[in-house]
Amino acid sequence: MEQLMRNFFLFLSKNKTLTKLAKKYGFKFGASRFVAGVDIDHAAKKIREINDNGYVVTIDHLGEFIDNEKEARENAEECIHAIVVIDEQNLDSQVSLKLTSMGLDVSEELVMENMRSILDAGKKHNVTVTIDMEDYVNHRRTLDIFMELKKDYENLGTVLQAYLYETEDDITELNEYDPYLRLVKGAYKESPEVAYPVKKDVDENYKKIIKKNLENGNYTAIATHDEAIIEYVKQLENELSLSRDQFEFQMLFGIRKDLQERLMKEGYKMRVYVPYGDDWFAYNMRRLAERPANVMFVLKGVFKK
Ligand code: FDA
Repeated sequence: MEQLMRNFFLFLSKNKTLTKLAKKYGFKFGASRFVAGVDIDHAAKKIREINDNGYVVTIDHLGEFIDNEKEARENAEECIHAIVVIDEQNLDSQVSLKLTSMGLDVSEELVMENMRSILDAGKKHNVTVTIDMEDYVNHRRTLDIFMELKKDYENLGTVLQAYLYETEDDITELNEYDPYLRLVKGAYKESPEVAYPVKKDVDENYKKIIKKNLENGNYTAIATHDEAIIEYVKQLENELSLSRDQFEFQMLFGIRKDLQERLMKEGYKMRVYVPYGDDWFAYNMRRLAERPANVMFVLKGVFKK
């Protein structure tokens, strides 16, 4: 039953019509459970609050199914604006983005142009930018673009997904770029031809790639709410005599706040991923797929006055 619900929410997350309707009819349907607000002003207030409580942040201006140049350029402008606001308000935040929201489905030229403008702004304002990893169809293109840009920009990171068979090789391939890598389990529906279908195998591969990336000496962001994985990282900290400036934990806004607080109080760097914007539907559906029990939180949001 749970698997059926997961598949259902992942199916909804790919639905362009619902995404557009949700955008048009506003920030409702429980969106605020996982999303910080409709614009950077709302998000900036949230970041300030989160920073004041002892956490660092990465913000993500939500944007999915972008299939035209105009919207891709607007998204890039929004990211640049966010970078300026982060600097002006002295917020401790990175910026995360999806290459499809920068025009990956329009042309690679457009993505490169948008990314270079954003990374130039990041350089100027001392803000790190990370590229999220999307569906497998975009996996290779994302890594190629990352490697190309990394030649010119220090302030760039990306994400690798433990559910893909290829990820261990990706860690080896990226090593020469001294990458800043965010390691996650993976949130999309993928075929067993490219991704481990069983959670136990995803978890084992996750541990393997975390260890490998740390042994390579690359800064590692472990982005998970899974306590068993977090315990494993704490063991590695001893085993590999890691210093705490070699890695950090990351979690999504609105999820496992108790665990976020515990790790922060134990002295770990804890980064909260804070999405904002009106294009919240697909993001929220992926969160429901991860944990169908969240549907109750979302329904409460719908009926809340
Ligand atoms: P797992 O799914 O095993 O969950 C472990 C426990 O965490 C659950 O038992 C539950 O307690 C809690 N939990 C997990 N998800 C929850 C939810 N939605 N609501 C409530 N509780 C929940 N993916 C991707 O494909 N590309 C990307 O670029 C990113 N980026 C990214 C950034 C950051 C900072 C994070 C934390 C995650 C991502 N992800 C992602 C999502 C990631 O791939 C994965 O889908 C989620 O983190 C859920 O997996 P967990 O590692 O938490 O483990």
